[in-house]
Amino acid sequence: MEITPSILTADFSRLGETLEEAVAAGIEWIHMDVMDGNWVINRTITFGPALIRSVRDRLGPEVTIDCHLMITNAAETWSQYTDAGVDMVIAHIEAVDDFQGLIDDLHASGVRAGCVLNPSTPADEVLPLLPDLDLVLVMSVVPGKGGQSFMPEVEGKVRAFRDAIDSQIETGGRVTKLMIDGGIKYHNAAMVAEWGIDIAVVGSGLINDRGTIAENLAAIEAALGK
Ligand code: DX5
Ligand code: ZN
Repeated sequence: MEITPSILTADFSRLGETLEEAVAAGIEWIHMDVMDGNWVINRTITFGPALIRSVRDRLGPEVTIDCHLMITNAAETWSQYTDAGVDMVIAHIEAVDDFQGLIDDLHASGVRAGCVLNPSTPADEVLPLLPDLDLVLVMSVVPGKGGQSFMPEVEGKVRAFRDAIDSQIETGGRVTKLMIDGGIKYHNAAMVAEWGIDIAVVGSGLINDRGTIAENLAAIEAALGK
């Protein structure tokens, strides 16, 4: 299971150094949480395309950057993020009316398409889209901030996606990646890996004042038996 940092708990005044610290520690994927001050329950604003462009320019082309769009108009504004240099757009099924249309638009632009669902949203809302999705992201917290408690009740949903994706792959279909986001730490990383997660987003469990990113990553990877 791959680990990708969410930068929400980083000190944005030294974000460049934090990112380079993450890459030096072996991180190859950065998860950018975009919030527009409206869509998430606590009305948070985080950052937009300008910061993402700075991140891409600092990191160069090798690192994968996704944007988790917690915004009301992802279907209309996704190209601002691809122009800023993201490799993948992950939009909320709850915020997009024509998700298949969004997938088609993204693929037509050569961008990978991800679909994210809130803890309360059933897998059935996303399963029909699976053949065309590059990634499914299961939220294990209610979107809005880092440092929240993990919601173990999403296990059934994760396993349902794992089974559906494995069947899809077995019949020659797309290799859709399965990602989880929210409350992942060294003590529950092995559990979600066993559930079948490919990539885990880790924010406060990686970027915190208890250790360096390398130390925190090593603790998680030790728990994964790496
Ligand atoms: C929450 C974000 C998550 C969050 C993860 O809305 O989508 O990516 O930052 O942070 P932790 O790992 O601290 O829960
Ligand atoms: Zn996120």
